Amino acid sequence: MAEEKFTMIVTRQDSPDSAPYEETFQINYRKNMNIISALMETQRNPFNAEGQHVAPVQWESNCLEEVCGACSMVINGEPRQACATLVDNLEQPIRVAPMTTFKVERDLVVDRSRMFDALKKVKAWIPIDGTYDLGAGPKMPEKKRQWAYELSKCMTCGVCLEACPNVNSNSDFIGPAALSQVRLFNAHPTGEMNKGDRLDALMEDGGISGCGNAQNCVEVCPKGIPLTTSIAALNRDTNIQSFKNFFGSDYAY
Ligand code: SF4
Ligand code: FES
Repeated sequence: MAEEKFTMIVTRQDSPDSAPYEETFQINYRKNMNIISALMETQRNPFNAEGQHVAPVQWESNCLEEVCGACSMVINGEPRQACATLVDNLEQPIRVAPMTTFKVERDLVVDRSRMFDALKKVKAWIPIDGTYDLGAGPKMPEKKRQWAYELSKCMTCGVCLEACPNVNSNSDFIGPAALSQVRLFNAHPTGEMNKGDRLDALMEDGGISGCGNAQNCVEVCPKGIPLTTSIAALNRDTNIQSFKNFFGSDYAY
C-alpha cells in the first residue's frame, strides 16, 4: 500500500546574501507529526517533489517543548514554534518560511541577536558579582511571584517582533519582549536597585517611544505574556523616571 504523503513548501535560502526560493517536498505522513518531524523527513530523505537530490533543509530547535524559542518560523503565514505546531491542525499544502524580521542565515535559521542585544541594552538581569555568597535573597509576596512568573516565561522566540509593524530592518526599536523584561526585573526586590538604569535605557533611541501601539504582540505571544500591559506600565514608569532625572530626586536624601 502506498504511503500517505502531504505537501510542504519550504522557503529556502542558501546563504545570508543569496536570494530566497521555494522548494516543495512530499513528506511521508505519520499521525501526530509536528513541523520539526516533517523537517526531519527532509533530512532523512533529501529529495524534492521533482525527485531531485537536494541539500537537507536547515532549521534550529532545541527543547522541542515550546520553551527555548529556537524553532520559531512562519507556518502557513503565522509566526509560531515548529515544535508546537501539529501537521494535523494545518491546512495543506503547508508553507514554511523563515521569520522576516531577522536576518536569514540559511533556510529557516535566522539570527535573533537583535533580541539578545536588546536585553543587554536594557540590562535585563539581576546584577550579582559572585565574589561571595549572597544568601537566599529577599522573598517576594506569593501573589507578586505568581505575576512575575508569567512575565518570566518569555523564551526570546521573536514571534512578537515578527508581528510588530515597528520592528523591521529600518528601525532600531527593541520590541515588546525586551520591554516586558524590564518590567520583570524592575519588579524584583534586588533587580529594583537598577530600575533607573533600565528605564533610562528605555528612554533612548529604539526604546519605548518606538512602540506604535499596534497591539499585535500580545495577540501572538505563545506564552500569553501581557505585553501591552507591560508597555503601558513602563510608559508610566519612564515618565516618572524623566521627572526624577530632571529634579535629581533619586539622589536626594
Ligand atoms: S514576549 Fe512572547 S512572543 Fe515575544 S519573545 Fe517572549 S515569548 Fe516570544
Ligand atoms: S524547540 Fe524549543 S521552542 Fe521549539
